[in-house]
Amino acid sequence: MKVIIKENYEVMSDWAAQHIADAINNHKENRPFVLGLPTGSSPLGVYKKLVEMNKEGKVSFKNVVTFNMDEYVGLPKEHDQSYWYFMHDNFFNHIDIPKENINMLDGMTDDLEGECLRYEEKIASYGGIDLFLGGCGVDGHIAFNEPFTSLSSRTGVRVLTKNTLMVNARFFENDINKVPKTALSVGVGTVCDSKQVLLLISGESKSRALRHCVSGGVDHAWTVSALQMHPDGIIACDEEACGELKVEIYKYFKEVYKDEK
Ligand code: GLP
Repeated sequence: MKVIIKENYEVMSDWAAQHIADAINNHKENRPFVLGLPTGSSPLGVYKKLVEMNKEGKVSFKNVVTFNMDEYVGLPKEHDQSYWYFMHDNFFNHIDIPKENINMLDGMTDDLEGECLRYEEKIASYGGIDLFLGGCGVDGHIAFNEPFTSLSSRTGVRVLTKNTLMVNARFFENDINKVPKTALSVGVGTVCDSKQVLLLISGESKSRALRHCVSGGVDHAWTVSALQMHPDGIIACDEEACGELKVEIYKYFKEVYKDEK
């Protein structure tokens, strides 16, 4: 696992955006580049930078197919807290991606299980995901894979923990009762099957999760720690998130990956 430590959120976001743009630009295979994407505040800086780079002609999404990580159950697309709305508002509406290349789980369908199976099949039909960008919850969840979700889980229905409902209530007028209680989410196994996984972990509130991810054991209590088993896992983080790392671990990564592209 590589841990790329940058001074602050902005530098971390710029680094990750450049990394993604390079991966797309260096993709020479005769099939689309398949990109997994998250929502949340963590990727906003990356999306902003990628939109800028797209407008400047430095990267194009015409040959990119995307799969989003997750979606609430029961929120229509037009709801301003649906992940569909978030992704279009912050990213898809501002780049040159063909609309048919965008894949998002439908949390409004009558057949949730079937929707999840079809999603896995569609990912497989493209030959898998080339690069999965992700974030991480304060409790170390990845996508909506809450603590104790199987580390080999596939796309499915997830029941959100009280902790996640409380953290996300800020987007629902601070009313925990308005936060959907269930979501559809790719599994930890789905993410880890990607050729490369890049996670953004920033801010003091994520310092415990970063410590568990980097220097705890692989542990289903911190589903993000599954990244340790991935052959090409990268964490891009900022200094603020490093507060709970041991000094020698912090120094090691700071030195070894200081020039990483
Ligand atoms: C939600 C999403 C996750 C995301 C997490 C952290 O739970 N399902 O994919 O990583 O929030 O969000 P933020 O980046 O806003 O801290």
